[in-house]
Amino acid sequence: MIEKSRLLIATTNPGKQREYRALLRDVPAEIVFPDELGIMLEVEEDGATFRENAVKKARALMRASGLISLADDSGLEVDALGGEPGVRSARYAGPGADDPKRRAFLLGKLLGVPAPRRARFVCVIAIAAPDGAVEYAEGECRGEITFGERGTNGFGYDPIFQLEGRAVTMAEIPPGEKNELSHRARAARAAVPILRDLYSGRGKT
Ligand code: IMP
Repeated sequence: MIEKSRLLIATTNPGKQREYRALLRDVPAEIVFPDELGIMLEVEEDGATFRENAVKKARALMRASGLISLADDSGLEVDALGGEPGVRSARYAGPGADDPKRRAFLLGKLLGVPAPRRARFVCVIAIAAPDGAVEYAEGECRGEITFGERGTNGFGYDPIFQLEGRAVTMAEIPPGEKNELSHRARAARAAVPILRDLYSGRGKT
């Protein structure tokens, strides 16, 4: 029998766990995380798309737990680079590079490219149910790549990503505000009706 009272979310990052708990508070399920269940999974994110990576993680967790499982994958797409770094966002600039190196690498790739250097953060959520059904939710946050770093909040590419229609980077806004407008927050909000349907029995499972 499919257990329909708990939702397993594929993150062990405490910040993301708090964010998901808040964003999914209206889902009629108990939210649990892999560490709470003693599940330790290393899933290689080798897909060609955010969807492939997200569903690979969600399915692996669902098989390990028997629970409806949610996983996300996210990254930065820059128009002038044909959508790069995309699914390679975390590995851009090679193995061993850290966030500052990846930002410098990206700025280097854009040398000579005039403003506006349009870009978007993308997040894809996959929800895998034990009967094999998979649902997706997506969110994006539009902006442009700056010519230098600004701000110290956030992580990853935040200090070089200026929000559309605003004069601030993602690293210059307070964390609470980022959690409202981020690609992840938008994808999570799009996932809420899907999850409500699943847990109320009106979904595909
Ligand atoms: P993941 O989906 O959390 O594994 O993120 C993949 C990579 O995309 C991260 O390592 C970052 O380089 C980049 N990224 C994803 N979300 C954000 C964000 O909110 N701010 C800055 N960089 C991000």
